[in-house]
Amino acid sequence: MIADMIKLKSSQPIGIFDSGIGGLTVAKTVIELLPHENVIYFGDTAHFPYGDKSSSAIQEYTKHVVDKLLDCGCKVILIACNSASAAAYDFLKQHIDDRAYLINIIDPILQSIAKTHAHKKIGLIGTRQTIGSNVYGQKLRALNSDIQLQSLATPLLVSAIETMLHNKKVINEIVKEYLSNDILSDIDALILGCTHYPAIEKEIIEFYEGQTEIINPSHAAAAHIKQLLTEKNLLNPNGHGLEHVYVSDYMDSFANVIRLFFDKEIAIEY
Ligand code: DGL
Repeated sequence: MIADMIKLKSSQPIGIFDSGIGGLTVAKTVIELLPHENVIYFGDTAHFPYGDKSSSAIQEYTKHVVDKLLDCGCKVILIACNSASAAAYDFLKQHIDDRAYLINIIDPILQSIAKTHAHKKIGLIGTRQTIGSNVYGQKLRALNSDIQLQSLATPLLVSAIETMLHNKKVINEIVKEYLSNDILSDIDALILGCTHYPAIEKEIIEFYEGQTEIINPSHAAAAHIKQLLTEKNLLNPNGHGLEHVYVSDYMDSFANVIRLFFDKEIAIEY
C-alpha cells in the first residue's frame, strides 16, 4: 500500500530512468499509453552497465538519479531498469518516502501474470544482477503464485545488442545458445527481464517459431502508472510526451535514438 503523497499536482512530470539507452523502449511504451503526460528521462550512462555491478553500487548511483528527477518535480518515478529494480527498489522507496510515487519494472508484470498465467512454466532472462538477486522468484512467492519460474542470466546479450545489433548472424547465434539451455526447456512464456531485450524480440520470436509467448514488462508498468494516476486524480490532460533527456555522460548515439524513437529533436542535457 503506497502512503498518500503530499502536494503532488497533475501537471508534474513522470520521471523514467535506466542505466542507459535501453529504458527508452519503456519510455516509448509509457508515452504511447499516456500521450498527455510530460516525461523526463535519465540515462545513467556514466555507470552503464548496471547488470554486473553490486547492489550497493547500484543503490548509490540510482540515489543520485532519483534526486535529480525529484529536483525536476516528478510526481511518479519509474525504474525502467530491471537490474536497478532488483537491487535498489526498497532502498529508493525509503529514500524518496512521500515525495513521489516510485514504481519498479518488476512488480506490475508479476501482479499481472500471477492472475493470467497460473500453473504455467515461465522463463526469465536478464542480467547477472537481476537473475542473481532472485527478486522475481521472491515476489512471485509473496503473491502466492504457483507459477514455475525458470531463470537464466544472459549477460552477453546486452553487449551484443549494443555492438552487434546489425549483425543478425551473431545475434541469432547468441540467442540460440542461451535459449537452448535446459533451464528454459518447455516454457509456456518468456519474460524479457532487461530493457535491452525488446531490441531482439523478433529474433527471440523466431527462435521459438512463434510458439512461445514473449512478455515485455513495459506494457504492464505503463498500465500500472495509468491506473495509479487515474486513482489519485493526477492525470495530466495538457502534457506533450518526452520533454527532457538527461545523461550522466554524453553519448552521441542518444540523440539519434531519440530522433528514431520519438520523431523529435530533444537536446541531451548532462
Ligand atoms: N538496463 C539494464 C536492465 O534492464 C540492462 C543494461 C545494464 O546492465 O545496465 O537490467
